[in-house]
Amino acid sequence: MTGTTYDRQAAEDYRAAREIPRSGLEAWRTAVAAAARLGPGMTLLDVGAGTGAFAAAFHDWYGVEVLAVEPAEAMRALIPVSAAIRALDGRAEALPVEDGCADAAWFGSVLHYLSDLPAVARELRRVLRPGAPVLIRNAFPGRCDRDLRVRFFPETARLVDAYPSVGQVCTAFATAGFQQMSLRSLPQRSAPTLDAFARGLRRDADSKLRALSDEDYARGLARLHAAAAAAPTEPAVSWMDLLVLS
Ligand SMILES: C[S@@+](CC[C@H](N)C(=O)[O-])C[C@H]1O[C@@H](n2cnc3c(N)ncnc32)[C@H](O)[C@@H]1O
Repeated sequence: MTGTTYDRQAAEDYRAAREIPRSGLEAWRTAVAAAARLGPGMTLLDVGAGTGAFAAAFHDWYGVEVLAVEPAEAMRALIPVSAAIRALDGRAEALPVEDGCADAAWFGSVLHYLSDLPAVARELRRVLRPGAPVLIRNAFPGRCDRDLRVRFFPETARLVDAYPSVGQVCTAFATAGFQQMSLRSLPQRSAPTLDAFARGLRRDADSKLRALSDEDYARGLARLHAAAAAAPTEPAVSWMDLLVLS
């Protein structure tokens, strides 16, 4: 699995380069609403919340309270805390929340950081109310061809090959009684054009791009610039999976 540490600069770079503009997440807003039926008075657990972009979106979209669990202090410091969004120091394997406190759990691009998926599943069984869904947004091996980074930097697919597969996740979560409800690939608009996407790329803020050799990175950038020149109005659309268990 991919390990990473975040200091203040890395956390700010992550926020600048990796947070998706809210307007580009409409398909995700609709899909999460369909999978979780969230509303005011409910609590969503955002595990590995990073800088809190999704925590803020979930509160704004659905009126839920959010418990944002994030182990990296520098990332946690950027979460927009409020009366409705609490930032908690903790890890998925030992969640710092009470039994039966949440109506849904969200894992946004965090699965590949987790060391013990059965332990995570046990924790979710403890903290989720009966029937509450686990919503996993992640790249999965063999299903990431439409990720923009994989399109232009195809060597990044090798890194995703080491991530937990859909089958491995379902097997691990089955040990705590969770079953797969759905698996969908969803688009996000990462930037209005490929050129804007290229200008916003920050290699240091992205574990997939960091893992490339300098030569592979340079070749990928050249591909991206060529595509941007050939299709100047093409929006930068990337796809990722939403796996729902309950
Ligand atoms: C790629 S970032 C994703 C952040 C955010 N969910 C998003 O979608 O923008 C992965 C986050 O997972 C956190 N993380 C790493 N190991 C973790 C663990 N064992 N439990 C919970 N979060 C973890 C990292 O500190 C980092 O903030």
